Amino acid sequence: MNPATETPELADLDVSDLSLWQDGPPHEVFRDLRSRDLHFSELADFPDEGGFWSVVRYDDIAAVGKDHETFSSKRSIILVDHLASEPGAPDPMDIAENMMISQDPPRHDRLKALVQRAFTPRRAVEHTERMREIINLVYDRALEAHPDGRVDLVQDVGYYVPSMVIGDMLGAPREDAEQLVDWTNRTTAFEDPRLVADLDDVWRALEEFIPYVNQLIEDRREHPTDDLTTAFIEAEVEGEHLSHEEILMFFFLLMVAGNDSTRSVFSSGMKSLMDDPEQLELVKSGAVPLEQVVEEFVRYHPAFAYMRRTATRDTELSGARIKAGDKLALWYVSGNRDETVFEDPDYFDVRREPNPHQGFGGGGRHFCLGAGLARLELKLWIEETLKRFDRIRLDGESDRISSTFLNQYRTIPVSLFGD
Ligand code: HEM
Repeated sequence: MNPATETPELADLDVSDLSLWQDGPPHEVFRDLRSRDLHFSELADFPDEGGFWSVVRYDDIAAVGKDHETFSSKRSIILVDHLASEPGAPDPMDIAENMMISQDPPRHDRLKALVQRAFTPRRAVEHTERMREIINLVYDRALEAHPDGRVDLVQDVGYYVPSMVIGDMLGAPREDAEQLVDWTNRTTAFEDPRLVADLDDVWRALEEFIPYVNQLIEDRREHPTDDLTTAFIEAEVEGEHLSHEEILMFFFLLMVAGNDSTRSVFSSGMKSLMDDPEQLELVKSGAVPLEQVVEEFVRYHPAFAYMRRTATRDTELSGARIKAGDKLALWYVSGNRDETVFEDPDYFDVRREPNPHQGFGGGGRHFCLGAGLARLELKLWIEETLKRFDRIRLDGESDRISSTFLNQYRTIPVSLFGD
């Protein structure tokens, strides 16, 4: 801690206190923290996990993200190392730590090189027609269930588009989308009792999810297709094939990262547009390129509030003496509103250009693999939505997932007109 710059109130501040997050990220707190030395908080809900440093300035986030030798991604990208309900109970984090996102070079780079080619912006374009078809299919189903056009932008629409897009790529049947959404919700939204009853539920979800993926991998070993699961099975790096566990982890990571992210950016961004009819009109009229609109969606509503790193050695950063083993949260929700980089950062503005946000990460090895796909998916999703519906407006109270990690609405009731 840095007593020299800490007011008494700040010394007691726990940035991870969920009560600060009920209406979204506590931007006032982050604004204040950006003007000070690095702040250290305890993890109130997980007292055995130690505390963490809050990295809140744009330049600091970039510097930490790019220095993987000093700031490791192991064992986890969330602030807790353990998610077991009690000592000795099965721990989902033992599984999650094998995902590429929780690895450092050289293993991380070796795994990323395998999938990178399938996710270039050029390859994303190949999915254009399929994505348009999925978006319209999801709207068809939502309107079938709600012929009056009163739908939930998150639960009737947001959940299914990314799940089907990434599911198609991985080879999961579209009719499994609902099940896949349920499993991903139950593994990531563990801070929200409305979605995850207790920590055991995280494990129960995995107990169902893992056999499902195992079966798909076995099917593809016997009947190869042109999907990513088959590609993982056939991939060879330096003469070696991926192990079964590595394939499982890829499936799991892509399904979770591809799901939670794009849906939250789309639904939150559309809410911002509906909150500001003038900007909605601007977008509808085509006066602002949709690519630019997408960037502001991601800046203003980064899907993940933070990613964690762990110091591998003693070091200094923005006035703080960090010790080997200390945890750091890279608060992308704060970097994206850093007033030294963005003019009037708290204002949502689709005309913002340039927009060098950190919504896909601050750079470095772990920069989002799916950024090209997500950018195109969001562009098509906004385009199809505004083309299909003359009018779209908020229709009831929205509320948020209770989480310091997922920057996501749980529900956004809207009315869609003009299909
Ligand atoms: C708008 C949507 C998305 C946002 C805002 C987003 C955001 C992020 C962020 C912040 C990171 C961590 C970067 C870091 O710590 O340096 C990340 C990593 C990752 N994302 Fe995304 N993501 C999105 C969509 C997707 C999609 C559609 C996929 C996959 C299909 C995907 C796959 C991944 C993977 C695999 C990683 C780990 C990369 C690594 O460890 O090298 N993401 N994403």
